[in-house]
Amino acid sequence: MPALNHSPEDLEADVREFLVELMPLEHAPAHLRLAFHDAGTYDRATGTGGAHGTVHLTEELRRADNTGWGQPCMELIAEAKAAYPMVSWADLIALGGAAAVQKCGGPTIEIGLGRTDATEVSPPHRLPGGYEGSDMLKRMFARMGLTPRDLVALSGAHTLGHTQRKAFTEDPWVFSNAYFTQLVDRTGPQLLQTDTAIIDDPELRPYVELYARDESQFWADFADAFRRLTWLGNERELTEAQPSSKLTSPTGRGRAKRG
Ligand code: HEM
Repeated sequence: MPALNHSPEDLEADVREFLVELMPLEHAPAHLRLAFHDAGTYDRATGTGGAHGTVHLTEELRRADNTGWGQPCMELIAEAKAAYPMVSWADLIALGGAAAVQKCGGPTIEIGLGRTDATEVSPPHRLPGGYEGSDMLKRMFARMGLTPRDLVALSGAHTLGHTQRKAFTEDPWVFSNAYFTQLVDRTGPQLLQTDTAIIDDPELRPYVELYARDESQFWADFADAFRRLTWLGNERELTEAQPSSKLTSPTGRGRAKRG
């Protein structure tokens, strides 16, 4: 039973630990994607969408973007909500993404608590589908208030998981820079048109090469961009909370085990 007199930092660590422990490794990539699908609907110009937990609402969860894989994730998030009712859905979904990275041997990303829940679903058709060109991707991320560098760093999430039953990388359960090394070496399957778009774009390619060379830089940039992603639409709280990202070194870490 969780203690009630936590500091915000302790509470975040407790909830994250709860999620890491109960999350089946097989579901980790989907949790990371879910955090993106909750936050990535944000439109800075209108202040609509964003990380307000609305992906847990049935109408949004059943959209083509989320259908099939979102529901099993929500079962764990709902379990966490029952154990920690004082934590918002938005925080739990964002923490699910951070927990997924940790579960797969990646950095511990401190993202802070205090996101607000909304009761109306986010506007539809705002998430990328994998067929966009690089200009369109940059426009979509700019719409959220994220930079081209953020776009590349966050795309490193595709080191984990699958599309159409094919793994993006050789070890889809380990958070590493393999997505980038494969793109640079052209050894990866490049399953999405957007993979090719990122490596062929002259503005984006240098970041792909940087992260392929330097996994620590990838971890640092991913943690920073992911934290900001999970606060989209909640800027005021982010400014007040000033949460930081804590990184464990990628060198010499243990590989995540299945199960
Ligand atoms: C850059 C733009 C992005 C595009 C075009 C994109 C597109 C896609 C597509 C098409 C899939 C496969 C879905 C399927 O076959 O069922 C996928 C999977 C995935 N995406 Fe993205 N995505 C993007 C950004 C992100 C971001 C920012 C994150 C998280 C930070 C993320 C995390 C994931 C993960 C972890 C998977 C694997 C899910 C699984 O195996 O269950 N993606 N993405």
